[in-house]
Amino acid sequence: MTKTGISCRIVVLISGSGTNLQAIIDACGSGQIAGNVVGVISNEPSAYGLTRALRANIVAVNLNHRDYESRTLYDQALGDAIDTFSADLVVLAGFMRILSADFVKKFEGRLINIHPSLLPDYRGLDTHRRVLADRKSVHGATVHFVTEGLDEGPVIIQAQTSVDRTDTEMTLADKVHAIEHQIYPQAIAWFAAGRLRLEDHHVTLDGNLISGGQTL
Ligand code: GRF
Repeated sequence: MTKTGISCRIVVLISGSGTNLQAIIDACGSGQIAGNVVGVISNEPSAYGLTRALRANIVAVNLNHRDYESRTLYDQALGDAIDTFSADLVVLAGFMRILSADFVKKFEGRLINIHPSLLPDYRGLDTHRRVLADRKSVHGATVHFVTEGLDEGPVIIQAQTSVDRTDTEMTLADKVHAIEHQIYPQAIAWFAAGRLRLEDHHVTLDGNLISGGQTL
């Protein structure tokens, strides 16, 4: 339960496998997060995360972007679908779409994303491949509030993992997933407890400004 005694209503947006979704569902189940995933929405009909949702008795919505004529119309429908759940928090967990400015504005302060890199490094796609090509020794993941720019927005928490000489894109993806499954539930737990806020484009935890995010 939150400070106000209200359980946080979480809606998760996905496009794929949904391992982060699973970590969040599990963290709600164990009580780490004072809240519940009340809805899962996918833009990809075949996303395995929809099956994960149904298995956990969570309402799963298939909202295929191909059925809409424009990004604006899709994002309106997405916003409406989220509203039907009375969401306190909207969690992007591998949701592979760029969101329109109006959508971001509508949910500002209660819209968070996870990105597989140590932002601001490696915005965009194919982060593991690019990190390997650059022969970096450290990689990681970032949870941040969503603002208008792609993979921008104030950082909440980051965690690192080492890049070894033997790593491939696949092994690196596994390592990054493992840390994502720790930092995403942690960030959501803070939010659900009323401890985490976006105030004037800055992140506060327990009322204290955290600049550049927390590290795990
Ligand atoms: C994660 O690596 C996340 O950082 C990125 O997409 C991936 C989603 O993985 N945005 P999953 O569907 O949660 O397994």
